[in-house]
Amino acid sequence: MANLTIPTELERHIDEIITHYPPQHKRAAVLWLLHLLQEHFGYLGEEQVEWTAAKLGLQPINVFELVSFYPMFTSKPRGKFHIKVCRTLSCELAGSGRILDHLKQKLGVELDENTPDGLFTISTVECLAACGTGPVMMVNDELFENLTPEKVDAILYRIKATGRLEREPLPAPQAAHPLEKRILLANASRPGYTGSLADYEAADGYQAFRKALSMKPDDIVHEIKESQLRGRGGAGFPTGLKWGFLDKKSGKPIYLICNADESEPGTFKDRQLIHYDPHQLLEGILISCYAVGAKVAYIYIRGEMSLGAKILLKSIEEARAQNYLGRDILGKGFDCEIHVQRGAGAYICGEETGLIESLEGKRGYPRIKPPYPAVIGLFGCPTVVNNVETLANIPFIVKNGAAWYRAMGVPGSYGTRLICVSGPVKRPGYYEFEMGKLTLRQLIYDLCCGLKGGRTLTGVIPGGSSMPVLKPNQIDVPLDFESLQKAGTMAGSGGVIVLDEMTDIVNATSNISRFYAHESCGQCTPCREGTLWIEKMFHRIQEGGGRPEDVELLYDIADNIDGKTICPFGEAIAWPVKAFVTKYRSEFEKVCRNGEATDANR
Ligand code: FES
Repeated sequence: MANLTIPTELERHIDEIITHYPPQHKRAAVLWLLHLLQEHFGYLGEEQVEWTAAKLGLQPINVFELVSFYPMFTSKPRGKFHIKVCRTLSCELAGSGRILDHLKQKLGVELDENTPDGLFTISTVECLAACGTGPVMMVNDELFENLTPEKVDAILYRIKATGRLEREPLPAPQAAHPLEKRILLANASRPGYTGSLADYEAADGYQAFRKALSMKPDDIVHEIKESQLRGRGGAGFPTGLKWGFLDKKSGKPIYLICNADESEPGTFKDRQLIHYDPHQLLEGILISCYAVGAKVAYIYIRGEMSLGAKILLKSIEEARAQNYLGRDILGKGFDCEIHVQRGAGAYICGEETGLIESLEGKRGYPRIKPPYPAVIGLFGCPTVVNNVETLANIPFIVKNGAAWYRAMGVPGSYGTRLICVSGPVKRPGYYEFEMGKLTLRQLIYDLCCGLKGGRTLTGVIPGGSSMPVLKPNQIDVPLDFESLQKAGTMAGSGGVIVLDEMTDIVNATSNISRFYAHESCGQCTPCREGTLWIEKMFHRIQEGGGRPEDVELLYDIADNIDGKTICPFGEAIAWPVKAFVTKYRSEFEKVCRNGEATDANR
C-alpha cells in the first residue's frame, strides 16, 4: 500500500463505508473514499490514488481516471479555501461575472491560481442547483447564496480572521403563495418544523409505511400504477409502469436508487425536499423498496450538496433507531437498508445508466439501452431508479389512495409539481401547485410577482436549460406535461428560467452551450465533437468574428447531434440551440452579420 499516513479514525470510517456495498463490488466505495481523502489532504495526488486503489483491490489507473473525470476532484494542491463561483446561466444573469471579477481583484489572483499565502484558490463551477438565489459560490463544501461584493468581502474577512469556514444557516422555507397547493412542502411550511424524526412523526410521518407493511407489495405497485404518477426527474415516465418492468424472476437482488443528482441548470427543487423534510423522502424510499422487493436502496446525491448528504445520513440514523430501517422492520419481517452515495460534480450522472456506472465506482458513461436497468442495472441486478420528488409522492398515494391523487391535476398530469423559478423576477424560488391548473403566465406574473424593475419579458425556458425556449406570446400554456409538449417544449425537470430585454440572447445560448460542452462525457462522437464545435463557434462569434453563414451552421451542428447519441444528453444541447436560433434568428443574424463582439451578461 502507498506510503500514506491515514488517521485511524478516518480509516475506520472508510472501512465502514466499504461495507455499504456487496463485497465483490467494493469498488463502488471509491467516490466516497476520494471525497474523504481530498477533504483530509486537500488534493488527490499519486499517493492518495495508489492508497485508494490498493484499499479497493484496483489498479491505480482505475482511480486516476476518476480523478480526471469528476470535476470535484483535484490532483493539484489548492488553497486551503477553494472558492468556486457558479458561472451557469441563472447565476450569470444574476451577476456572477461581477462576483468573479471582484474576487480576483480582492485576492490578486487569476482563475485556478493559489494565493501566495496558500489560503485561497478561485475557480468557476457549473450550476450548483441553487439558481433562484444566485449568484452563488461554494467555499470547500459550503454554499453561499445571494452574493454581493459586500457579502463576499465579509466572508473573506471572517475566514482570514478565524482561519475557519462558517456555514450559513439554512434559510427559512419560502412562504406559500395563495395559488399554491402544498402537499410535498406542507410539513416544511409549518412554523417551527425542523425535519427531525419527532416532527415528522408528529405530522403523521411513517403512518403510510406502517400501512404499506400490512399490504401486499403487488397491491402497492397496483395503487401507484392507478395513481398515474409520472417521474419528476425530466422524462415524465409513469412510475408504476417502471416498477412493473423489474425482472423479479432472475433470483438476483433488486436495488432501488434514489436519483438526487439534481444538476439541470434552473432546477433546485429536490434540494428543498432533502433539506426541509428528509424523512418524507426516506419513507417514500422504504415503501417503494417494500413494493418492488428491494432490500437495499442507495441515494445518489450530487457531490456539491454536502449539507443534503449530512442531513440524510443523520435522518437515516434517526430512522434506524426507531426500527424504520434495518432488520425485521417494525416486527413485520421486512429488512431494508438505505445508503447515501455522493457524486462528484458530473452532470451526466443524472442520466440513470450514467448514475449506475458512477455508483459502481466508474466514470459516469451512460449505457446503451436495452438492456434497461429494470433487467440489468446496478451490479448487474434488476434496478429501479426514481427521482427525489417522485419518491416523496409515494407516502401520500399509499396513505390516501390513487383516486385522491388523481383528483389533483389534469388528465395525463396528476398530482402536484414542484416548479422552481430563476432569472429577473421579483420573487424567484420554488412553488408547488396542481399540474395544469396554472399557466406559465400566472407563475411569472402572480406567484413570482412579475419582472424586476418593470422590465419586459423576452423568453422563458420552462423545464431546465435543456428544454426549448418559449417566446412571450407562448406563455399562456398550462403547466403540465401534455400542454408544454403541444407548445413545442417539455416540462423537463421543472426549472423555469426567465429572460428579459436585458438578456443578451446570443450570450445566453452560448452560456447554455458551454455548460453542455463542459459536461459531455465524451463517449459519442456527435456529442463530444459537436458540443465543443458549438462552444468554439460561440467564442469566435462573441469575439467579433461572426460570419453570416454561422447562423445556419449552428443550427446544423445542433441538428446533427439531435437523436444521434447513446443518451438524451445530445438533445440537451441540440434542443435549446435549435430553439434559440429559430426563435431569435434576427439577433443571431445581427451579431454574425456585423461581426460585433458581444458582452457577456455581467
Ligand atoms: Fe448557478 Fe444554477 S446555481 S445557475
